Amino acid sequence: MAELEKVGPFPAGAEPDEYDRRRRRVLWSLPTGLYVLGSCAGGRRNLMTLNWATQVATDPKVVAVSVESGAVTRDLVERGGVFSLSILRRDDRAVVRKFVKPLEDTGDPDSLAGHPVHAAVTGAPILDQAAGWLDCRVIERTAWDSHTVFFGEVVDCGEADVSGELLRMEDTRMSYGG
Ligand SMILES: Cc1cc2nc3c(=O)[nH]c(=O)nc-3n(C[C@H](O)[C@H](O)[C@H](O)COP(=O)(O)O)c2cc1C
Repeated sequence: MAELEKVGPFPAGAEPDEYDRRRRRVLWSLPTGLYVLGSCAGGRRNLMTLNWATQVATDPKVVAVSVESGAVTRDLVERGGVFSLSILRRDDRAVVRKFVKPLEDTGDPDSLAGHPVHAAVTGAPILDQAAGWLDCRVIERTAWDSHTVFFGEVVDCGEADVSGELLRMEDTRMSYGG
């Protein structure tokens, strides 16, 4: 992994290198799920591995996702104003390695990069193998230098077996952010 920039503020007396490493360990320890975010705009679709997602309001039903500034997905969600979240089974952990770089979209509505997909209300691609899924329309956004947080109202959802064992970040040896 590339050396990450040290970002302040640093508490009084803290040694920046040590504090940076400690803060990263604590941030990495935040328990999260691990999902595949679907996006679409202007005839192009994408799927991206993402762990920064959570529900943030009940009325309306709002889910927030945080997407890297340089990601193809950020541009697609920005322009398309929609996103989907595919919730995965723990057994499907290998799938997330496939969605860490932009996919080629050949335009087949039933498939994306060899993975069977379907669309719901918004048109954002949803993995057929998902244990459950949320389809969201963007109602708000907040942009920082590194990431844009999109707030999406849930406009449709589906489930296959969300009561089963679902994929979490801790099921992998990967980390993100920090
Ligand atoms: C385990 C894991 C978790 C990730 N979580 C996020 C995330 O929450 N937000 C994000 O923007 N990128 C996340 N990424 C990185 C994206 O999957 C990756 O940068 C992707 O290439 C960028 O998307 P793009 O295909 O739209 O360009 C994660 C990567 C991994 C391996």
